[in-house]
Amino acid sequence: MKGMLSPSLMCADPLNLQAEIEKLDALGVDYIHLDFMDNKFVPNLTLDTNLVRAVKGVLRNMKRDIHIMAYEPEQYFDRMEIGSGDIVSVHYEACENLHEVIADIRSRGASPFVAISPDTKPEVILDYIEEIDGVVVMTVYPGFAGAPLVDGSFDKLSAVRKLIDDSGSNIILEVDGHVSWDYCQKMRRCGADLFVAGSSSIFGKGLKLDDSVPKMTELIK
Ligand code: DX5
Ligand code: ZN
Repeated sequence: MKGMLSPSLMCADPLNLQAEIEKLDALGVDYIHLDFMDNKFVPNLTLDTNLVRAVKGVLRNMKRDIHIMAYEPEQYFDRMEIGSGDIVSVHYEACENLHEVIADIRSRGASPFVAISPDTKPEVILDYIEEIDGVVVMTVYPGFAGAPLVDGSFDKLSAVRKLIDDSGSNIILEVDGHVSWDYCQKMRRCGADLFVAGSSSIFGKGLKLDDSVPKMTELIK
């Protein structure tokens, strides 16, 4: 599977979001990563449901890659207008009945992904691997841009890749957190397919998307 980019909108210029989205779209980026936080599962609030919904109306080619860092994520699906083409990632650690949440996402025509935080063992995904379209491995503790890579992240990516391959499924392995210029190729070698690019790469200080997006696309291809 080719390496795909999912720029993290919470790392874009907050005063020029539509312009940044349109620029990314024009540059041929595959997904736009939309982080939603409830200030309970993670101690932060970022993009709200109105913005996640509004993004839908301005996308031309990009698809929404919605990362919900919140307890009972299903309560937000209507307000986000979850539908066909969306990736919706919910956290294993945040759902009472993850099977039901996955089925709810699927019933809306969207692609359910399960996200696992750094302290969660890779094996937990085996209970869901038949029902999902992808796994998100958090390589930072979720909640903030600019967080440091968690020790053992590369081994964890390889372990999840092996679980996916050994199960015979070809679901997507997404990596989220500190996907930096230095680390992205090693993450690719560990088996990542979809790369959340934030402040550690394409939105780095002083960088222009016209330059940073093609550079990152080349590195992860
Ligand atoms: C962190 C978010 C990521 C993050 C990625 O909880 O899920 O989207 O912002 O950006 P950097 O490169 O700053 O880790
Ligand atoms: Zn994210």
